[in-house]
Amino acid sequence: MHVIGGTASTALAERVSRELGNAPFGIPFTKRFPDEEMYVRVGGRLEGEDVVVVQSTRTDSDLLELFLLEDAVREAGARRTFVVVPYFGYARQDRRFFPGEPVSARTLCRHVELDADAVVTVDLHSSQTLTQFTKPAYEASGIPAIARLLHEKPLDVLVSPDKGGVDRVRRMSQLLDKPWFALEKRRLDSEHVELAMPPTLPIPIEGAHATIVDDVISTGGTIVEAAKLLKKRGAIGISAACTHGLFLKDAFERIKAVVADVYSTDTLGNPAEKASVAPDIAQILERLVTA
Ligand code: R5P
Repeated sequence: MHVIGGTASTALAERVSRELGNAPFGIPFTKRFPDEEMYVRVGGRLEGEDVVVVQSTRTDSDLLELFLLEDAVREAGARRTFVVVPYFGYARQDRRFFPGEPVSARTLCRHVELDADAVVTVDLHSSQTLTQFTKPAYEASGIPAIARLLHEKPLDVLVSPDKGGVDRVRRMSQLLDKPWFALEKRRLDSEHVELAMPPTLPIPIEGAHATIVDDVISTGGTIVEAAKLLKKRGAIGISAACTHGLFLKDAFERIKAVVADVYSTDTLGNPAEKASVAPDIAQILERLVTA
């Protein structure tokens, strides 16, 4: 099996190749033509091989690069192409909220799978999106990677910032054997949220080390408000953990001002990237190859 790391996921792709027993790893050559069109070229002997392309699609340019890489790998004669999209962009628009809108997540699934034999992603906004693929599609979780990291940290209670994250925080709580609760969240606009404590708590929060667990940290608004609320209630060591750390604008600095630590997986490059999902992705790929 060969692993190719697109420009958005080079480091993670290399970790995946190591997890696959040092599978041959390559970085494609990329450049822009004078008119800004993208050019990619993959190297190595791919004919008859199983090839893994790893590329998060945070920007539209990442997405285009992924499409070109998939085509390049097929042209190079790969036997099968497994496409790994650690951060699957556009996944949040997974339904039509207002008339005239697209179901962007579905559009992306259709196009990403076009030149793929199977797709692997990590913590989709909603796992339901997997049903939009017509080819085999698998979702790894960032929770075990974060749990491996939190295992060594002081921790009394896990907190989900909203009800939508209950399955996630419950899974983390099982892995770490710690109690959890979910805050009540109301989104005011794309950058502001209002949070409230639930009516009952599993342990007293006063003096507790609390870790807020979310799937995505984007503007940081959710984590900042959650941390302020927990602090007001007497929590002493507050940290934040997420699978996908987008950290838009000054989000990282704003979060660091209110929490002791921030942890993210490596689905996206960011200053909080401390846990790797490479073993979890490799496990799925190994199953796919032997299937
Ligand atoms: C919401 O459904 C997600 O789970 C995150 O809570 C949200 O995307 C975080 O966004 P932000 O960092 O902008 O508050």
